[in-house]
Amino acid sequence: MEKNFFLKVVNVKKYFPVSKSFLIKSQKYVKAVDNISFSIRRGGTLGIVGESGSGKTTLARVILRLIEPTSGSVYFDNKNIFDLDKHELRKLRPKMQMIFQDPMASLNPRKKVKQILTQVFKLHTSLSNEEIYDRVLDLLEKVGLSPPELFLDRYPHELSGGQRQRVCIARAIALNPKLLIADEPVSALDVSVRGQIINLLLNIYRERGEDMIYIIISHDIALIKSMCKDTLVMYSGRMVEFGETDSIIKSPLHPYTRMLISAVPIPDPEIARTKKRIPISGEPPSLINPPPGCHFHPRCPYVMERCKVEVPQYFQVEDRLVSCFLYAQY
Ligand SMILES: Nc1ncnc2c1ncn2[C@@H]1O[C@H](COP(=O)(O)OP(=O)(O)O)[C@@H](O)[C@H]1O
Ligand SMILES: [Mg+2]
Repeated sequence: MEKNFFLKVVNVKKYFPVSKSFLIKSQKYVKAVDNISFSIRRGGTLGIVGESGSGKTTLARVILRLIEPTSGSVYFDNKNIFDLDKHELRKLRPKMQMIFQDPMASLNPRKKVKQILTQVFKLHTSLSNEEIYDRVLDLLEKVGLSPPELFLDRYPHELSGGQRQRVCIARAIALNPKLLIADEPVSALDVSVRGQIINLLLNIYRERGEDMIYIIISHDIALIKSMCKDTLVMYSGRMVEFGETDSIIKSPLHPYTRMLISAVPIPDPEIARTKKRIPISGEPPSLINPPPGCHFHPRCPYVMERCKVEVPQYFQVEDRLVSCFLYAQY
């Protein structure tokens, strides 16, 4: 792995074909990820926000090539991940890990915690059984499953939701990944344990963040604010705004980002005092038949004629990229 590795996502698309019916003759697609580009360097932290169905999970899965892209490139460790064959991809796998929203669904119900974690080392290292056992104990301690001996022989269903997510986190960090994507890591958990899991993710970030690229997908703007230097806002499969988290929260540019930020309570009195509340109105668009032009135009309070027919390109406003004709003069 090169010392100053980076992740560069270029024009990535993922279209899912929709099953045809006798009424619809031509093949239609759900454009879950529609031409997304961005990059982050080693030590970078990116938050991805956007309402449910906007394509966040699909983007994450495509970046890690857990699903095949429709088109585009993703450069990581100086390789285009989309060009790798099975063997090369398998070698890179331990360096790119994902923590999923639903820990139950991502653990094999027939394997004990010890087997789940041991398997990672067996697949990707040549450590001896004793060394692996020590690593597994260390990992369990690290993710707060202590004393570790108590958890080794449990099956996923014998753990609480929070404990299961800790096992998933242990598995994801086992081999010191260089790219870690956490997809709404607490949204399936009880409110009472969310804070603990967030703290665990924060600790991992403090410990290893410098040598990693961290991507967090979350609805929780406060979490994004505490962990992510940069933020990417998705709407209906497209990136509508990208830039530094602090400046996006202080002065969101895209009308959708403004709605999103105004809808959440932010534990920062200075921002809370000055910000105006804008109600989120209207429905998210259908991804099969999205509106022409800017996908947000039917809900946008600033809609202009051209928004209804043209897709806005990215305009650079200071440090920000924003896909909105309001900024066309910049
Ligand atoms: N395997 C799939 N087949 C068909 N459509 C899919 C598949 N996975 C996701 N989608 C569709 O892609 C869109 C984006 O989904 P997703 O990436 O899960 O959004 P988010 O994570 O932002 O909620 C949704 O309309 C969803 O129904
Ligand atoms: Mg999702």
